[in-house]
Amino acid sequence: MTSDWRQLKIDSQAMNFWHYIDRPIIGLSPMDGVSDASFRYITAKHGGPDVLCTEFVNIQAAFYAPHTLIRDLTYSEIERPVIAQIYGRSPELFYKVAHIVCELGFDGLDINMGCPAKKVAAAGCGAALIQTPALARSIIRAANQGIEDWSNGQTLNDIGIAPELIDKIWIANRLRTGGDTQVERRLRPVSVKTRLGYDHIVVEEWIATLLEEKPAVISLHGRTLRQGYKGNADWNAIARAVGIAKNSGTLILGNGDLRDMADVYHRIRETSVDGVLLGRAAQGNPWIFRAKDQVKGALSQNSNLSIGDEAISLAERFRVILEHSEHLEKCAASENFVGIRKHLTWYCRGFRGAAEMRSQMVRVGSASDVLWCLRNYKTFPCAEAKDCEFDGGAPLDTGSEACLIQRPDHCNS
Ligand SMILES: Cc1cc2nc3c(=O)[nH]c(=O)nc-3n(C[C@H](O)[C@H](O)[C@H](O)COP(=O)(O)O)c2cc1C
Repeated sequence: MTSDWRQLKIDSQAMNFWHYIDRPIIGLSPMDGVSDASFRYITAKHGGPDVLCTEFVNIQAAFYAPHTLIRDLTYSEIERPVIAQIYGRSPELFYKVAHIVCELGFDGLDINMGCPAKKVAAAGCGAALIQTPALARSIIRAANQGIEDWSNGQTLNDIGIAPELIDKIWIANRLRTGGDTQVERRLRPVSVKTRLGYDHIVVEEWIATLLEEKPAVISLHGRTLRQGYKGNADWNAIARAVGIAKNSGTLILGNGDLRDMADVYHRIRETSVDGVLLGRAAQGNPWIFRAKDQVKGALSQNSNLSIGDEAISLAERFRVILEHSEHLEKCAASENFVGIRKHLTWYCRGFRGAAEMRSQMVRVGSASDVLWCLRNYKTFPCAEAKDCEFDGGAPLDTGSEACLIQRPDHCNS
């Protein structure tokens, strides 16, 4: 490991998948507690964003809780290109974790410099790094150095990673790929996801600082740490960042408050960002990314955006709900299945009987409970329920016209 990070001269644009995506890039933003492996699988399969990112993973997990690291860095091949997001404040650990991220076959490594949560920022991580620019730069250099040394053949053994973790990584790769395929030793791009400032906007200085380290991408959420999620994302400030990064080779992705593809289209036109990340708009709506090619086409032809009326049918919605539930049940320990409930309430919006359905979905404890709720919809006294062509089995024979039927056994968790 190079002791002086400044010695490092990596062309982080080399082997950089970001440059092979048709612009503008339209990706899924990382969301802790939301964009886990199952949600990303469903989003990749039914929406198809250009890029996906794991939830943020604490850098210490590699050393103190390897099982959580492996759980949080699980992904499917369908997600590619997929990047691992790491947060922490130790360049030495970033150097090591970069090896692990590469060994797990991720397409890139993203460094979280944007999280405003107290427990993260109070430890000097996430968006707090905006206040320690020298450290932030060291972290980027360390991550790049780790990737370079790994690509040149340095092994996890060489850097003192515990044999148990190395075994877990090997097993994770085998499970994902179904074989013993070796991960190709090549450079991977490092990106940074950040905010406009700590307690006030310092986007000019902050972006200029980050650019010194030539990250492949800077994803910029248009709020400060202090703002949290309050107020509106400031897209004028994002546009200024685009101006600063112009001709640097680093791409700027804008992020914040994009509700639909019409918003995406307008913001990209106004700011000339290289792309965007969508977070909350994808909750319960993995299909949102389906219209990304229409946005790209309209922008490249300088024409108006026209998105056909391709509403998701209730039957498809239900099939995806079931698929998501079954995927999570396969991936997660049974006590973690309850994590799906928030997704289910997001999916169950905008159709007749949705409120009743949500009240059932918040009590499910297994995929079979979810299937029960979906089949039970047929008993709801509305035309949509009668017409719904969900093929999850025969409707429940309740002998009743009541909307709400308590499932006796399982839905009581
Ligand atoms: C529940 C939740 C969890 C989040 N977790 C992360 C995270 O792990 N890493 C990260 O960089 N940003 C995280 N974010 C921030 C989002 O990636 C995104 O920057 C923010 O939600 C603004 O985008 P949006 O308006 O499209 O949601 C999270 C946001 C939410 C709502």
